Amino acid sequence: MSSYFIDGGSPLYGDVVVSGSKNAALGIIAGAMLLDGPCQIENVPDISDVLKIIDICRDLGARLELENGVLHVDPTSINTTTAVSQRVRDIRASYYLLGALLGRSQHEAKVALPGGCNFGTRPIDQHVKGFEALGAEATISYGNIEVRASRLVGDHIYFDKTSVGATINLMIAAAKAEGTTTIVNAAREPHIVDVANFLNTMGARIRGAGTDVIRITGVPVLPGRASYPIIPDQIEAGTYMIAVAAARGDVTVRNLIPKHMEPLSIKLEEMGVGIEVGEDSIRVRRNGTRPLRATAFKTMPYPGFPTDLQPQSTVLLCHAHGTSTMHETVWDNRFQYVDDLKMMGAQIEVRDHIAMIKGPTQLTAARIEARDLRAGAALVIAGLAALGRTEVFSVELIERGYEHFVDKLQQLGASIVRSESC
Ligand code: UD1
Repeated sequence: MSSYFIDGGSPLYGDVVVSGSKNAALGIIAGAMLLDGPCQIENVPDISDVLKIIDICRDLGARLELENGVLHVDPTSINTTTAVSQRVRDIRASYYLLGALLGRSQHEAKVALPGGCNFGTRPIDQHVKGFEALGAEATISYGNIEVRASRLVGDHIYFDKTSVGATINLMIAAAKAEGTTTIVNAAREPHIVDVANFLNTMGARIRGAGTDVIRITGVPVLPGRASYPIIPDQIEAGTYMIAVAAARGDVTVRNLIPKHMEPLSIKLEEMGVGIEVGEDSIRVRRNGTRPLRATAFKTMPYPGFPTDLQPQSTVLLCHAHGTSTMHETVWDNRFQYVDDLKMMGAQIEVRDHIAMIKGPTQLTAARIEARDLRAGAALVIAGLAALGRTEVFSVELIERGYEHFVDKLQQLGASIVRSESC
């Protein structure tokens, strides 16, 4: 177990470059297991979740080599339709292998039920509904899910709930099914568009990704033999933007897609943070004198405010004048970090799915635990803005999703070091 030690209170200055999107990378690497030829994926972030899915794909028999952000993939040597190791259970995104292995074999796949961050019940009924619409039968036993079909045939799929994972899984599964699959009430997150663009570059015919109706015309062969660059990470970019707003300073966050950042940029401006949007960068400024205004946030599927920026934004709201609210509508248990913030002096009450935050509060240092990836990042932001030396422990959870987190923050002038602890 490792810790970050943060001496808070210093503003952040300079430039930070955003890495490739974690969630896009996970969907794309799993989706690559469907291909009939090799491919190259660029801008792959060197983070533990990505390294895990690479190892899981190697266990299937595929050949993958990651060199300086470029992943060379050859899935033609895959020799199984089963992925049930502990590694598979460790990451949520391994459920994409159900779509990929079923789509590859057209008949069967067996995958361990996924783990990942624990912020409430994480059902996969919409994934199952989609596979069943394609003609597969699903059974769950001994902690694994198995899907079997005599053949996969495209159909109309209506999701009762907007699900990022189910949308990606069904795009992957349907890419080689017979006929046309229509997904209605599809999720619209940037990484859904990225997975669709990747599959199309490799020979698939997917139209409408980024809207709530996606049409997939199955193709018999996905030749691959192309290179595809992953989009920048919306959540990583947003985390740095919020860190500057909370700790104060003047930072240009580079290599992002400003459109993807709109739900956050608009809220930060509303609070009184200076935002200057460039072509592929956003400059974030907050000086020492300007007070932050309280406001109301509500998490929603894209283009709504991302739930994965909820904990970081709650930390920022501690610094705003007045009472703010944070309404979490996506996950049913995503406020576990609030107790840690209270130890730092935050005044937060959570009722049902709404946190009420009174501010401004000058947070003070504490020894606190990263309970999940984004909550962990939020506590680092709290530490950057707090007086004194904060220790955030269990930082391996943060490193699942942030490439070179400590280095990037140090480059902005933060006093943060990583240390192995017992
Ligand atoms: C993905 C992201 C995660 C993010 C979430 C919402 C990845 C690897 N993870 O997770 O970081 O927080 O989107 O933006 O991309 N649901 C059902 N039935 C299902 C599937 C989901 O009821 O079959 C519900 C969930 O319980 C949740 C909501 O739908 O309340 C959204 O879940 P979903 O969009 O599927 O999240 P993930 O894809 O798991």
